[in-house]
Amino acid sequence: MIADKILTNFSQIFCPTDLGRALKGKEMSEATIIENGYIAIKDGLILKVGQGTPDASLIGERTKLVDYSGKLASPGLIDCHTHLVYGGSRENEFAKKLNGVSYLDILKEGGGILSTVRSTREASFDNLYNKSKRLLNQMLAHGVTTVEAKSGYGLDWETEKRQLEVVRELNHTHTVDLVSTFMAAHAIPPEYNGDGDAFIEMIIAEMLPKVKEDNLAEFCDIFCETGVFTAKQSHRLLSAAKEMGFKLRIHADEIDSIGGVDVAAELHSVSAEHLMAATDEGIKKMSENNVIGNLLPGTTFSLMADTYAPAKKMLEADMAITLSTDNNPGSCPTSNLQFIMQLGCFKMRLTPIQVFNAVTINAAYSVGLGEKIGSFKEGKQADIAIWDAPNVDYPLYFFATNLVEDVYKRGEVVVKKQQLI
Ligand code: NIG
Ligand code: FE
Repeated sequence: MIADKILTNFSQIFCPTDLGRALKGKEMSEATIIENGYIAIKDGLILKVGQGTPDASLIGERTKLVDYSGKLASPGLIDCHTHLVYGGSRENEFAKKLNGVSYLDILKEGGGILSTVRSTREASFDNLYNKSKRLLNQMLAHGVTTVEAKSGYGLDWETEKRQLEVVRELNHTHTVDLVSTFMAAHAIPPEYNGDGDAFIEMIIAEMLPKVKEDNLAEFCDIFCETGVFTAKQSHRLLSAAKEMGFKLRIHADEIDSIGGVDVAAELHSVSAEHLMAATDEGIKKMSENNVIGNLLPGTTFSLMADTYAPAKKMLEADMAITLSTDNNPGSCPTSNLQFIMQLGCFKMRLTPIQVFNAVTINAAYSVGLGEKIGSFKEGKQADIAIWDAPNVDYPLYFFATNLVEDVYKRGEVVVKKQQLI
């Protein structure tokens, strides 16, 4: 078959193995790395990935050849955990944090998530849309072609709906594809005076059916944490959401281990997120129940903690893991997934191959898009990040600098020489 476009002469192409599910344990240490490779594209999809000179049968009169000598190609990166849509920002809390006041204490005083809730409630659709678009542009410039985005800064229907509608609209208008998660259970709103049970019952009775009816989200998530929602409340919400047909995620073991992981295992949540405080027993349960561990080392970094999630232990226990930014205005204000990948190496001692697998093939399965993206399997979307790097090790070792030069989305160049097109 004749290709529309062939990207040629890559010094390396990182090709994750696609087993039809997230890679687990030892599988994450393996990948095919093609030296001197090419990627042939037709109708926005991967036609063929190969080595050396492209087969003559791929080249027709109209086939465009683009030379990428000396560069690395990987599947477009997938940021599978973000709180993309929010009003305001929280740099005003930074000095407090530097002086040792904890994240949960700031929240207890009405700051933290609750301060962003106030700003988000006040923000118009356009304001939220433009702010989120700017973040998406930053992510795209860093090689990210698909993003999971959560609501959870409204905590009332009007604002939660506005956040979800911003995600839906951006999914139509922006180059980056979005996967939507409903997370009203992100904090107890002030009007509920600490009554988490009543708030959860309201979400189940009033919000979840509307989200489903308007098809505003695929996933449901909750923040299971000391002083926020208990494991029992998490179980109550997520089992109701599951019955209504939502796929599940859960913020668990971020600061304290209070049972969120057990809920994830019991309800077969697609993923459990954060897991800084994960226990050996929790890791075993996640492994046995195929819960993907979504690790967010940027949050540990930003919280100025040294308790990085035990990624290596998880791999030893045959778990699947992903890495993502957690992009949000409080615990991890960054759009740079490359830096998160580097923290995966520097702070969790993952290898470059494990890290690339985490943010491509595994992230794709964790957002339910494994059939479409995350690898260079023939027929998948031609979402490609092209790195100004000669091999897979380089972008992990040369840190805190954007090394993605060009990006292709569905076969079209959308970032060229680090500029959005
Ligand atoms: O994933 N943990 C809960 N939610 C976010 C933080 C949101 C915020 O601080 O605004 C997180 O870390
Ligand atoms: Fe989060």
